[in-house]
Amino acid sequence: MSSPPVIPDRVARFPFPFPEAHYRYSTNVEPARTPVRTAAGEWGRWLIDADDGYRDELALRAQILAADPSRMVSAPHMADAAWDTLLLCLGELAAAHPEEMVLHRDGAVYRWCNRRLDEERHFRRGDADSLGADPLAYAGSQVQEDIVLLEQREGELWAEAGLVTFAADWSLAFDIGMTFLEIHGPVPRVHVEGVIPRAHAFLLRLQPDAPYRRTNWTMSADPRLDQSTETYPEWGPARERALVDPAAVGQLQLRVEVQHLIRLPTSGAILFLIRTHLLSLEALMTVPEWARRFAEVLRELPADIADYKGVAGLRAPVLGWLEHPGPGAASRERQSRSAARSPT
Ligand code: HEM
Repeated sequence: MSSPPVIPDRVARFPFPFPEAHYRYSTNVEPARTPVRTAAGEWGRWLIDADDGYRDELALRAQILAADPSRMVSAPHMADAAWDTLLLCLGELAAAHPEEMVLHRDGAVYRWCNRRLDEERHFRRGDADSLGADPLAYAGSQVQEDIVLLEQREGELWAEAGLVTFAADWSLAFDIGMTFLEIHGPVPRVHVEGVIPRAHAFLLRLQPDAPYRRTNWTMSADPRLDQSTETYPEWGPARERALVDPAAVGQLQLRVEVQHLIRLPTSGAILFLIRTHLLSLEALMTVPEWARRFAEVLRELPADIADYKGVAGLRAPVLGWLEHPGPGAASRERQSRSAARSPT
């Protein structure tokens, strides 16, 4: 008997976001660092980790930042929060990858060693010269996550700093200086249904040492990570092409964000981390439970949510494709059945 095919890492660790057959916006928060079993594997054991896209994504981030420095906003009054962020990011990476990464403290001096990137730095908190970089910029050069920092004042949360290169159809430069409630202004339903007011109250009470997380999802036409408002002309038309080209449907991506919500210990700011995972429909089809569930969710999705996510026009072609995936479907189906049987 032939052995079952190996499930690729990016499928095994994909945070498939649909525990139920329908999807609505909700204040879907849960404690961080809680592993979740899926039909293909597991995700969520670590708050931050590095996957097989680590070096490529960090190189891409550096390119995007060089071409458009407005993707990072660092503000002097958020410096303390930026140092908190850096120490948290390095500490979490080291916890997930102790064989490759170490954050060691000796008095006031930190030593960071990242063998995956061949990096070693000695620095003091608050001393950017010793680090050789802005702390926020350096954090963004070590973790795949996008970063937003919110300051709490006058009973509100204000987005005051960040480094975002992989946004899904929004812009950090546009949102900076806005409150949490203003940022969510365009999202349909969430205000009347109380989702955002509840999330706001939750965030105002968030405690250090009790990080939370949530998932969010959308679809995109290709595996491009940078889908910020600034680059719409580069990625928007591909979505339209997918509507008319049946051959392109299998390459559409389910785009899932794992978002962490963290109260930083020294500054008291809220750190919002966004890690983006992409999986093509072709790959999704290799896990039959996921293909079935995604079709159920898409079929039932209310029109206003589908519109806001930009998936309204994709719904019919995607459902058609999930039901009749075209040439190669039979072998994919065989493969997926063995994949589902194999231990993870
Ligand atoms: C418990 C906390 C949160 C909840 C429940 C929540 C909920 C949501 C929902 C439902 C959407 C619509 C997403 C979609 O349909 O694809 C959204 C979008 C968004 N959220 Fe949040 N969110 C939370 C935290 C945050 C935080 C801390 C930030 C930090 C600034 C943030 C920034 C955004 C942005 C920039 C968008 C896109 C808005 C646009 O289209 O311009 N969210 N959020």
